[in-house]
Amino acid sequence: MVAPDTGARAPLSEHLPRTTGMDRILIRGGNRLSGTIPISGAKNAALPLMAAALLTEKTLRLTNLPYLADITSMANLLIQFGVEVSIDGDNNGENGRAIDMTAAQILDTTAPYDLVRKMRASVLVLGPLVARFGNAEVSLPGGCAIGTRPIDLHLGGLETLGAEIELEGGYVRVTAPKGLTGARVEFPKVSVGATENLMMAACLAKGETELVNAAREPEIVDLANCLTAMGAKIGGVGTDTLTIQGVDELGAAEHRILPDRIETGTYAVAAAITGGDVELRNTDYALIAALAEKMEEGGISVTATEGGVKVACPNGRVDGVDVKTEPYPGFPTDLQAQYMALMTMARGASMITETIFENRFMHVPELVRMGANINVHDSSAMVRGVKRLTGAPVMATDLRASVSLVLAGLAAEGETIVNRVYHLDRGYERLEQKLAACGVDIERLKT
Ligand code: EPZ
Repeated sequence: MVAPDTGARAPLSEHLPRTTGMDRILIRGGNRLSGTIPISGAKNAALPLMAAALLTEKTLRLTNLPYLADITSMANLLIQFGVEVSIDGDNNGENGRAIDMTAAQILDTTAPYDLVRKMRASVLVLGPLVARFGNAEVSLPGGCAIGTRPIDLHLGGLETLGAEIELEGGYVRVTAPKGLTGARVEFPKVSVGATENLMMAACLAKGETELVNAAREPEIVDLANCLTAMGAKIGGVGTDTLTIQGVDELGAAEHRILPDRIETGTYAVAAAITGGDVELRNTDYALIAALAEKMEEGGISVTATEGGVKVACPNGRVDGVDVKTEPYPGFPTDLQAQYMALMTMARGASMITETIFENRFMHVPELVRMGANINVHDSSAMVRGVKRLTGAPVMATDLRASVSLVLAGLAAEGETIVNRVYHLDRGYERLEQKLAACGVDIERLKT
């Protein structure tokens, strides 16, 4: 879509959620959740899948697209490069939206700081741009609230495929004038983003690439399935060793984005923390197996149903159960804050250890303000269950910390006001509507 006057590419923002400034969410706690919640397409699958559109001049169509601010950011970044983007579907529907992306006329391969700093997943355009066009310039994302978030594994892997890396002025410039050449890339540590970037780049490299110690998240399997539909040749999908045979070009495809396992887990906790009984639809028990096992150990009933997962809390309170976050299929770091909220009112204590990010306990002081009993020692938090939480005005600093405060507010006595709701809008589609439909007294306070 091109603005008539300047030729500058009009952003898509009118189709997708605008950033919601300083809106706040007010929750009056104490209601049990009951009913059904439709789960949306996975944010952390949609973002790399959208970047994959850069690998071909043909149209990539993604369905079950979630309605999230991060999707807006990625769509606008693609438009900035010259990708034709169109989105259709009901902005309030339960079936997600469809997005068509055609990267036929790429005019620019620079991802500017003001876009990248808002959404680190912008670095996922590096692999596709270098593989197809031989160059890319992406602002270094910088750190975020949960950690320094380096991209050395992404850059090291691209270098192994023959790219040249230059760091200058806060930007990383990656060039491969003669194209990329397949090679063996062994990741010193498991990285979701680096695995995605390298898998996409390897699709158009000359010869075979082997990715060793690759991440195995369902979102990576989903991306591999989409790339295969586009004509890529990928072996070992779902394992920690991926082999990719480079091809000359990729073609058109239509791909349905898999359900969001973090959203699924978040609402499973919402049901449990309120002693409720909820069916999560359009999702799959296998996507939250690690969380389900811990919740079942604590006495919550989590069962697979025809179209999703049923969560019930028969004996009112969960028992404390220890958790350590690990790469998939271990307990996901993205559910650590939500699980901690559940443990604040458990019978007994639980030790929660975060092994993926160096600073992912920002929800702790806010939960303590609501009456939780939590002590942090290095990368572990000891949570001693209390009888009740009390509502309070709380502030969050990242997406998952924000939602853990919402979860605590569902069960707390009195009113909880969660500030900086824009964090939530990055990762949770229609949060208030989905919770209100299950009996929660919740509203958004517009500023
Ligand atoms: C993805 O981030 C997710 N984001 C994160 O979800 C998720 O927490 C994370 O994977 C882990 O599962 C998206 O998929 C868009 P990593 P990513 O590379 O790829 C270190 C959310 O809430 N590392 O697997 O950035 C890194 O610092 C977000 O939805 C390097 O050292 O995560 C971290 O300690 C938050 N060098 C660890 O590896 C690198 O080059 C795992 O990071 C890359 C990463």
